Amino acid sequence: MGLSIGIDFGSAYTKAVYTTTGATTRMVPMRLNEPWTPSMVARNPRTGMLEVGSSAIGAAAEDPKNAIVLVRRLLGRYYHEPAVREVRQRVAYEIVRQEITGPGKAHVMVGDREFAPEELAAAILEEVRRDAEAALGQPVTRAAVTVPACSHFRQRYEIWLAARMAGLEVVRLVEAPVAAVYGFGMAPVAEGSRTVLVYDLGGSAFEVSVVRWIDGQAVLESMDRDLWLGGEAFDQVIVDQVMAGLRTWQPGVGERLRADPRSMWKLKVEAERAKKLPSWMPSADVLVVGALRGELDVDEEIQREECEAWIHPYIARTMTLVDQALKLGWPGAGEIEAVLLVGGPSCLPLVRRLLVEKFGEEKIKADVDPMLCNALGAAAVAARSAGVVCDDWLRKCPHCGALHRPWAEVCDQTGGPLGRG
Ligand SMILES: Nc1ncnc2c1ncn2[C@@H]1O[C@H](COP(=O)(O)OP(=O)(O)OP(=O)(O)O)[C@@H](O)[C@H]1O
Ligand SMILES: [Mg+2]
Repeated sequence: MGLSIGIDFGSAYTKAVYTTTGATTRMVPMRLNEPWTPSMVARNPRTGMLEVGSSAIGAAAEDPKNAIVLVRRLLGRYYHEPAVREVRQRVAYEIVRQEITGPGKAHVMVGDREFAPEELAAAILEEVRRDAEAALGQPVTRAAVTVPACSHFRQRYEIWLAARMAGLEVVRLVEAPVAAVYGFGMAPVAEGSRTVLVYDLGGSAFEVSVVRWIDGQAVLESMDRDLWLGGEAFDQVIVDQVMAGLRTWQPGVGERLRADPRSMWKLKVEAERAKKLPSWMPSADVLVVGALRGELDVDEEIQREECEAWIHPYIARTMTLVDQALKLGWPGAGEIEAVLLVGGPSCLPLVRRLLVEKFGEEKIKADVDPMLCNALGAAAVAARSAGVVCDDWLRKCPHCGALHRPWAEVCDQTGGPLGRG
């Protein structure tokens, strides 16, 4: 049996961690020796081959129309769903309806090839598995994988399927807020209860959850979310502001930039870099040399205060959602033992300031890397579940033994009725 790792499959970045029960924990360095890899697949315009993760960054800049991002947001979705419409508005690649009768799934075109989202998700998870094997020097065959707390059955199934296609047996699908609590090392109490609030501001979505441990069991008490409020929205607002500045001295340039996917891609990459401005730096440059096929150099300085002002309405909305989650679950702010900062953008000083105002300094926990805490928690679950595989929710044919999707009624091999996995 190979090693078991924990994977946090994010819509922006995928992270993996290996740990043994109670002992050493090792981050799994990805291809560029970074602790995470972009959840991205892109076609290399020169070779026509698909590049995955960090290797896809260069190809994506050259040919953004064939750079597939936000693929996790398409898992388990039908083409007509509003969530798919939202993804379409944010990406340069083509999303098509699967050619079948009934409500077709959302599929993705890369060049002239059509892919199901789970195939692309599998490519990302396979890359992660390979990187983990290279780093750990042993086969990696099992994983506990995070799923968003708000995901439905079909989405969870397709995350599971992607992991299986990537050559990983899934030992557990862990709800992200529960993984975060483990990741922060908050052991469940054997008796009585403890209540924590998980503030997860990720790459594309915000989720707030109240997790209560009752007699050793984690219970997701209440949640609220905004599915389109995350780091990507902040990058977009920075791009919009930079372009508004350009327009004042070059009329029409904004429209021309918007019509040029390569320039827009580069601007977004620069906006993301500026957003991550370390707290000791007063300003950042957004620099794109040779936009509009060499016609234009964008060089805009952004001050910390103005960047915070642009993002402030979004962070204020997350605070409203925190209040709503508290109301839904009944605990008052006083009953919350700790507030866990999870997800890359939760590093923003503005987030911390507003949460401190609400809960007080001593309750805010940010001592674990917010990008990695979910993967750390998943790794802890993987280490404890070694040997168990979570296939029991699938349907099994009693005659031929084939496993089927959870909602299948009859076996496609024998035509007979299905039982439980
Ligand atoms: N220091 C930082 N300051 C602000 N934003 C940051 C910082 N570091 C990373 N980010 C942003 O965090 C986001 C990625 O965070 P994370 O990996 O938690 O998201 P994810 O898990 O992939 O997304 P989701 O949870 O929505 O599926 C990106 O938008 C990135 O730009
Ligand atoms: Mg996340």
